[in-house]
Amino acid sequence: MKQAVFKPEWYVSPEYAEYERVRVFEKLWLAAGFSSAIRNNGDYFVLMIHGQRVLVHRLGDEIVAYVDACPHRGGVIATAEMGNTRPVCKYHGWAFREGRDLTGVPMGAQFENDAALRDRSCGRRLKPLAVHCVGPLIFVNLDERPLPFEEQFSPELIAWFERMGQTSTMIQLGFKCDYNWKLNAENVRDTLHPFFVHADSFSSVLPAAVETFNQDRMVRLHPTADEDYARDETPPPALRELSFVWMPEFDEGSYWYDGLLRRSLPQDRFVDMLLFPNTNLYSVGGRYYAMQQYLPTSATTFDYRLSIAMPQMLRRFDAQPLLTSIARSERHVIDEDSIILRRVQQNLAAMSQRRFRFTQGDYETPIMQFMRYMGEVVYQESQADHR
Ligand code: FES
Ligand SMILES: [Fe+2]
Repeated sequence: MKQAVFKPEWYVSPEYAEYERVRVFEKLWLAAGFSSAIRNNGDYFVLMIHGQRVLVHRLGDEIVAYVDACPHRGGVIATAEMGNTRPVCKYHGWAFREGRDLTGVPMGAQFENDAALRDRSCGRRLKPLAVHCVGPLIFVNLDERPLPFEEQFSPELIAWFERMGQTSTMIQLGFKCDYNWKLNAENVRDTLHPFFVHADSFSSVLPAAVETFNQDRMVRLHPTADEDYARDETPPPALRELSFVWMPEFDEGSYWYDGLLRRSLPQDRFVDMLLFPNTNLYSVGGRYYAMQQYLPTSATTFDYRLSIAMPQMLRRFDAQPLLTSIARSERHVIDEDSIILRRVQQNLAAMSQRRFRFTQGDYETPIMQFMRYMGEVVYQESQADHR
């Protein structure tokens, strides 16, 4: 056992959410989505990052990203969450041909009385954001001087992104969650909870793990006085260590569409790529890819975005009904977690006002690493503040 790394305030107070906005969400690379979501010229999708509307837009052969706020009076290029449009503001028609500089103002005389000045843009532009595409994935970075992608993700992980090949048909759903986004990011690093929370949903597909679990015996404990467990004194992890891949064995049998897909990731593995800060990306037997994004909207709420994409098809077929049913079962598993996490949030909120001792287990190393980075690097609190 270990002294708990976290403080309950981290999950409820707007002050911590503000540190996260500045030092995580507007600084690091964030997985934005699958590139097959925007296949044609003009296709776009929106990503809300701490209240900022980020547009990921395919213009010609290029994928660009920018803050969807027009420098005239705050109009938008895109009125929907995804679709197809030209980079023109929908309020009064200002045009930004490359998704950057202002390149045209219709009814220019209305904006500039002086005819001699009418062809000047005054340097106005959409706020461009850095984009990095690898394999089927698009990443964005809101920092003006983004850190190198390789500083955030290891060569091993980048090789897995590349190995994914390209995605084809996909589906995306979003829903609101009323707990802190970190509870979800930690939950997907919690390798023990599936045995308790998803026992039925996972038992048939992870036979080896279930077998190990069933052979385990409950340890009988003697009640003791309140113990002080050791505090982890090692330095906080490097950013690159917070994202990693793990791949439990997995057996889901075979499906009618297996022969129609280019399954470039292992067929007997659930390949789980945990991407710091807010994304869980996984391959289910190479048969489909799923991306879960946890996008904070406040200290106690976030938007959950779930995208499911098929790998490249060897022969085209209508995968939409299939994706709908996969999405339904994925959603069922997410709901199993939400029932618990919503209650955890309530308890953390209650305990942030009171004295209460939490404890963590040795198996939680990846979760404690996540927390230590948040505590020391993001909130810049030392472990000693925790008593
Ligand atoms: S707000 Fe964009 S053109 Fe007016
Ligand atoms: Fe879960």
